[in-house]
Amino acid sequence: MILSGSATQQLAAELAAALGDDLGRVEYESFPDGEQLARVPPVDGRAIVVASTVSSDAHVELLQLQDAAREAGASEVVTVIPYMGYARQDEAFEPGEPVSARAVARAVSTGADRVVTVCPHEQKVLDFFDVPAVGVDAAPRLADPLPADLTDPVFLAPDAGATALAESVRDGYGAGETDHFEKYRHSGSEVTVTPSDVDVAGRDVVVVDDIIATGSTMSQAVGELDDPARVYVACVHPLLAGNARLKLANAGVEAVYGTDTIERAVSTVSAAPAIADALD
Ligand code: R5P
Repeated sequence: MILSGSATQQLAAELAAALGDDLGRVEYESFPDGEQLARVPPVDGRAIVVASTVSSDAHVELLQLQDAAREAGASEVVTVIPYMGYARQDEAFEPGEPVSARAVARAVSTGADRVVTVCPHEQKVLDFFDVPAVGVDAAPRLADPLPADLTDPVFLAPDAGATALAESVRDGYGAGETDHFEKYRHSGSEVTVTPSDVDVAGRDVVVVDDIIATGSTMSQAVGELDDPARVYVACVHPLLAGNARLKLANAGVEAVYGTDTIERAVSTVSAAPAIADALD
């Protein structure tokens, strides 16, 4: 049985259909003091808890779902975290800081037999779990909604770390050059991006990243492009916090494509097939 967090109901339904599994009717409640409750139906056999941890409340809800699944009779709990919040805080960047990704992974491990996540920011995040954990790649399908008539396309990553994702989308599309920018982050919302060497004049450009959070990285990268034709943006996790969508539109982006690891208006690609492959 699939047991969904409140923020991942669409993806959970897609996953249930892909696996031919039951979709449990989970009930979500909030109390006047701000605490919350997730209530699950009886479970016979394996429970697959699906919950993107897009907020602190979503983290707590995930822990509740795992615990409730056991209480309800699950013989095994497989936890799918399509988007893992705090994964980018994968080291103590300054003295006194926590390794938040490790703290979160340890908490999840107390209630899961194994974990599946989608395109983790760094593979090392998987090692923070105390139970077996795998990352699946949903990036190749981000090529699906792109126009079929891209002109001499270039697939660009906003930093070197996203190069493999840009290559995945290029491979999914079937043609095009790849390159990457260099990025320097000044703060949570301020970045400087320096252009790649590739000449984009008159060409269609697709900029690919794992996450769009504040939109600073993407909008800066798009702003560095010298006389491109059309510019598209694709990401696995469309967090799109605050005015990120406006930043992208103001930068001249034609369209934004994301997956449903985070359910937004731009989540036109489902990660369910990639996750289902890892659960069979
Ligand atoms: C960082 O290395 C990630 O790959 C993304 O580039 C980053 O998280 C995007 O954040 P923002 O949209 O806030 O610039």
